Amino acid sequence: MNHLCGVYRPFDLQIDYARGLYLYAKDGKRFIDTFSGIGVLAFGHADRDIEDAMISKMKRYTHVSNFLLDEDAEIAAAKLVERTRRQGRVFFSNSGTEANEAALKAVKKLRKGAIVAFEKDFHGRTLGSLSITGFSNLREQFNPLLPEVVFLPHNNPEAFRSFVEQNQIAGVFVECLLGTGGLRQISNNMARTIMELKEKNYFLLVADEVQSGLGRTGRFFSYEHFGLKPDIITVAKALGGGLPLGATIFLDQVMDVFKYSEHGSTFAPNPVALAAANVVLNKIDDSLIAQVKQKGEYLKNELKFINNGLIKEVRGLGLMVGAEINVNPDLLKQIAFKNGILLNIVDGNVVRFLPPLNITYEEIDLIVELFENSLKEVDFERNRTETSFASKA
Ligand SMILES: Cc1ncc(COP(=O)(O)O)c(C=O)c1O
Repeated sequence: MNHLCGVYRPFDLQIDYARGLYLYAKDGKRFIDTFSGIGVLAFGHADRDIEDAMISKMKRYTHVSNFLLDEDAEIAAAKLVERTRRQGRVFFSNSGTEANEAALKAVKKLRKGAIVAFEKDFHGRTLGSLSITGFSNLREQFNPLLPEVVFLPHNNPEAFRSFVEQNQIAGVFVECLLGTGGLRQISNNMARTIMELKEKNYFLLVADEVQSGLGRTGRFFSYEHFGLKPDIITVAKALGGGLPLGATIFLDQVMDVFKYSEHGSTFAPNPVALAAANVVLNKIDDSLIAQVKQKGEYLKNELKFINNGLIKEVRGLGLMVGAEINVNPDLLKQIAFKNGILLNIVDGNVVRFLPPLNITYEEIDLIVELFENSLKEVDFERNRTETSFASKA
């Protein structure tokens, strides 16, 4: 890894191939991927339908640029807009952060005033999206960022009301279920307050559905759980079936925000990713979404049943679930890895589960069993170290 920027700490695993819930190492060992490549692989690794669509498109062409129209772009855009049950237009990009950049440009073009973002919301790493990401530790080194951004506390309707009543607001960005911020959800009171003040104050509401959208939470968009009516929606992650694809959906009054040449991309939308997206969007139908809801409840209940004092809280919606743990997260990750299960830990001590949306109940049982065993082992290690330390003292 000598020639790669040290921004990641990958698992010590040489991947040979991956199928469904599993990754297979070159030495033959099997690992469970509990977070689907950070929520990207909605149908697990190497889904046949998605792969077939990619391959057949790839054989026709892999890139054409926006000087030519790929028919899959209009089809995918229509599917996304249809899911909002409103009028809209889509700008395709390559990632979540780019989808949010397009939303930011739209807000800046259409309204003047502060851009409100919330602590612990994550929107991306490029400078605009970083400016609205509610983690000061990620932003600090790169200041000054966008000057009009103001951070307000998560789920504090009074603070939000007081700020909105005293300032001119251009836009508000929300992440309804915090992915990076620890799987906490927006409160109904907060969502109601945002909608009430939006009516009076004319700001634009952007729902970041990059992680929580596309059926992940048991609704097509996670804002539907909370009665929000955003003007702009951003999606990415699962959209391209594993290939980079983001989308910014502009609705109703803002659907025509960008005129010719006001925004663009050389690569996006990639035709192969678009072919995959159309399969992904067809597969995320109402019956799958209903199953996501049921399986999510099942996963949460199974995690709650562990009940060994090593889990503080289990929370989340659909198959976007967090288990806040009481044990050393690094040790847990290490022991789980030894046990063949890859864990993703966010916000310090929250294990984030983002399994494939078509996971089976047996696979959920297997995840929970290995997770429980790993927790027990960490606890055993802790007790053993403490006992040997005490006997030496
Ligand atoms: C809610 C949310 N928004 C935006 C992003 C940024 O997406 P990307 O990493 O594709 O740029 C992420 C990534 O984790 C995310 O979870």
